[in-house]
Amino acid sequence: MANEWFETVAEAQRRAKKRLPKSVYGALIAGSEKGLSANGNLSAFDQLGFAPHMCGLSQTREMSTTVMGQNLSMPVMISPTGVQAVHPEGEVAIARAAANRGIPMGLSSFASRSIEDVAAVNNSTFFQIYWCGDKDTLLQRMERARAAGAKGIIVTLDWSFSNGRDWGSPWIPEKINLKAAIKLAPEVVVKPGWLWAFAKTGKLPDLSAPNMAKPGEKAPTFFGAYYEWMQTPLPTWEDLAWLRKEWGGPFMVKGVCRVDDAKRIVDLGATTLSVSNHGGNNLDGTPAPIRCLSAIADAVGHDIEVVLDGGIRRGSDVVKALALGARAVMIGRAYLWGLAANGTAGVENVLDLLRGGIDSALLGMGKSNISELSADDIVIPRDFLCALGTK
Ligand SMILES: Cc1cc2nc3c(=O)[nH]c(=O)nc-3n(C[C@H](O)[C@H](O)[C@H](O)COP(=O)(O)O)c2cc1C
Repeated sequence: MANEWFETVAEAQRRAKKRLPKSVYGALIAGSEKGLSANGNLSAFDQLGFAPHMCGLSQTREMSTTVMGQNLSMPVMISPTGVQAVHPEGEVAIARAAANRGIPMGLSSFASRSIEDVAAVNNSTFFQIYWCGDKDTLLQRMERARAAGAKGIIVTLDWSFSNGRDWGSPWIPEKINLKAAIKLAPEVVVKPGWLWAFAKTGKLPDLSAPNMAKPGEKAPTFFGAYYEWMQTPLPTWEDLAWLRKEWGGPFMVKGVCRVDDAKRIVDLGATTLSVSNHGGNNLDGTPAPIRCLSAIADAVGHDIEVVLDGGIRRGSDVVKALALGARAVMIGRAYLWGLAANGTAGVENVLDLLRGGIDSALLGMGKSNISELSADDIVIPRDFLCALGTK
């Protein structure tokens, strides 16, 4: 078998594109409308530079930290993604890779594998919920996650409507039945590696969302869960405070880009907030999180853990985010490309690349510990930073 190891996340993405059926790959690319935010998340990191030293560099570099009471061997966590049919093991493969590399797993409530299966392989698992269904249903899902061993809750609030895409959205069937199989056949037969991976397990992708099942009932389809979410009235700040109180333990609010919202999240008593625009999948034109980060970290970084997600593809991106005030980052597509390319080993490969890249950037800048990073280490173009919600 050819060497499955890849040298960068970009190469993992190329292999994912080659291996996955067009619709599955398209679902991972995601983005909304013109793709301004999805592309901007990536290009923003390219605009930041480093101010390296060349002598007196540190022989050793320390990059461990903690988030939501969990130990991280490096300042990276798995961001929840509700995607299906990438790999037969799905989120279990991702969670195992994360556990093997000493980092927490964020599991989407729209994921293809259950919180019980995932928490069994990674004992630093956070369960992500949307404001979806009535309060009894939300409580039931949280209690199920708690019973399964979830160490914290991630509440995602930056996905608020569905969007068209100028490049077209993939067709995703309600479930894989004969009609769907015939329709998908032309794109699937040209991807024998993907097909074989599923064939070996004797199961087709079932496109259900097991964490959204009502007690004693069958898991709804992904679209059934999506429909429930679309029918649910949008949450108020009081609803969010209620959720925070009911959970009680470590609590992250994901999807913040404004300082005024960040302050309200501190008032709720949340443990952590994630500066995020949902990977550019919601309101197109929302600035890249890395642009919004330092204003938020400066305003509330002493009162709450601030993490960032969006656009992280290499270790140097992680270091840029830390220098601008993040305690850690979360990754989405990067691990999905690794999963598609080579299962658990592919996700480990991605995590190893990030670790190596963080280490190299720390080395180049003469740091012995991530805690020594500051904005002075970064070349920041004029007008790069956005302080949203400060007036
Ligand atoms: C295909 C896809 C599905 C996602 N599904 C979820 C989800 O179910 N819950 C959630 O909180 N975030 C979801 N996200 C957002 C990610 O958690 C994260 O914010 C984003 O991927 C970060 O950007 P990156 O992909 O550039 O790393 C999804 C993102 C993608 C690309």
